[in-house]
Amino acid sequence: MAQLWGGRFTKETDKLVYDFNASISFDKRFYEQDIRGSIAHVTMLAKQGILTEEEKEQIIKGLESIRTDVENGTLKITEEYEDIHSFVEANLIDRIGDAGKKLHTGRSRNDQVALDMKLYTRDEILELDSLLKEMLEVLLKLMKENLETYMPGFTHLQKAQPITLAHHMGAYFEMFKRDRSRMKDIYKRMNLCPLGSGALAGTTYPLDREYTAELLDFDGPTLNSMDSVSDRDYLIELLSAMSTVMMHLSRFSEEVIIWNSNEYKFVEIDDAYSTGSSIMPQKKNPDIAELVRGKTGRVYGALTALLTTMKGIPLAYNKDMQEDKEFVFDAIDTTKGCLALFTGMLKTMKFNAGRMEESAKHGFTNATDAADYLVNHGVPFRDAHGIVGQLVLYCIDKGIALDDMSLEEFKAISPVFEEDIYDAISMKTCVEMRNTIGAPGKAAMEKVIRAEEEYLAG
Ligand code: ARG
Repeated sequence: MAQLWGGRFTKETDKLVYDFNASISFDKRFYEQDIRGSIAHVTMLAKQGILTEEEKEQIIKGLESIRTDVENGTLKITEEYEDIHSFVEANLIDRIGDAGKKLHTGRSRNDQVALDMKLYTRDEILELDSLLKEMLEVLLKLMKENLETYMPGFTHLQKAQPITLAHHMGAYFEMFKRDRSRMKDIYKRMNLCPLGSGALAGTTYPLDREYTAELLDFDGPTLNSMDSVSDRDYLIELLSAMSTVMMHLSRFSEEVIIWNSNEYKFVEIDDAYSTGSSIMPQKKNPDIAELVRGKTGRVYGALTALLTTMKGIPLAYNKDMQEDKEFVFDAIDTTKGCLALFTGMLKTMKFNAGRMEESAKHGFTNATDAADYLVNHGVPFRDAHGIVGQLVLYCIDKGIALDDMSLEEFKAISPVFEEDIYDAISMKTCVEMRNTIGAPGKAAMEKVIRAEEEYLAG
C-alpha cells in the first residue's frame, strides 16, 4: 500500500478501505497524460525560479524514463499504488531521489487529476472525430454511387414515397456531421487548463498558469480554482454527444437489421461481419448491428450515472468525482468500437438495388405522384386523393402495381388519365421531379454532394 499522505495518520488504512478508495486499476490508463502534465508543471516551476534548471532537467529525465519503461513493458503499473499520480511520483523518487520530491510543489492531486482527465478526453475527442469522419467518407461514397438506386422511403415503417439509396445515406451523413460538430464544440469549450488551481484555492507560489496552459496546448487557464477542480461538465457533454452518436448508430443498426431480414433482402452483410447459429445451419445473423443497438443503452447509462453522481456535490473537490472515470472510459471505448465496426460493416455491405426498386414499385410509393398528375390536369387535390385511393384499392384487389394498370383501367376510374401517366408515375420521374434543396432528385443530391465534399476536405 503506497500512499502519498501517511504523515498525520497513526494507523494503517484498513485493506478493504484501501481497495475501495484506490483508483489505479482504472486511472492507470492516463499515465502518459499524467507524465505530460508533470513535465509542463516542472518546466513552468523552473521558469518561475521555484525549481532550479538542474532539478527540472533531472525530473524531466526521470519522468521520461518512467514513460519509456511503461511503454516497453519493463515497468508495470501495479495495484500497490493508490492511483496513477502516486505511482509516477513514487517511481520518480526511486529513480532520482530528492529532486523527485519537489515535483508536487504548488500542485494538488485535485488539479492534477482534473488536468489528466482533460488531456485524456481531449485526445479521445480527436479520435472520435476521426472515426466519425471515416464514417462520413463511406457514406459520401455510397451517396455518389447510388444517385439512381431507387428504394422506398418509409414513414411509420410503411412505404411512403420513392427515394434513392443516396438520399437515405445522406440522412445519416447529416446526423454524423452534426455529431462531429458537437465534438468540436466540446473540445473548444473544455480547452482551458485547470493546473495551478491547487486543492481548491490556488497556491501561494508564483505560478505562471498561462505558460503551463500554453505548454499543454490549451487556449488559456481556467478562471476559478474551485470550479477548476470540480468541473465535470465537459464529461457530461461528451457523454451526451456520445449518446447521440450511439442513438444514430442504433437507428442505422435497426434499419440494417430490417433490410437484412429474409423478407426485405435489401442488403447482404459481408460474411466477415456476420455470425452463424450453432443449431440452424442456414442462419447468417446481423449480430454486429444488434450489438451496436444493444450497447447504446450502456452509453446512455454512463450519462445518467455521471449526472446523478454530480448532482449533490458541494464545492469543491469531493471523492465522488473519482467515479467519473470508469463511466467515461467505458463509454468512450464503446462508442469508438461501435463506430469502427459499423463503418467496416457498411463499407463491405452489398445493397440489392433490384429488390429495393421492386419494393418501391409495389408499395404504391408513386400514389402521391399519381394524385399530383391529376392536380396538374385541373383536378382539385382532395378529389385527386380520392381517385387515387380508388386506383390503389383496385390494384390491391388485383394484386398489381399502379404501373401495371392499362390505360383503359385508369380511364375507367378517371377519364383525365392519358398515356403520359406512365411516365409521370415512373420511379425515375417520381424521384427526379423532386429537386428542391435536400430532396432526392439527382440534381439536388449532386449539389449536396459537392457541398459535403468541400466540408470533408476542409
Ligand atoms: N483518484 C482521485 C480522483 O480520481 C485523484 C484525486 C484525489 N484527491 C483527493 N483529494 N483525494 O479523483
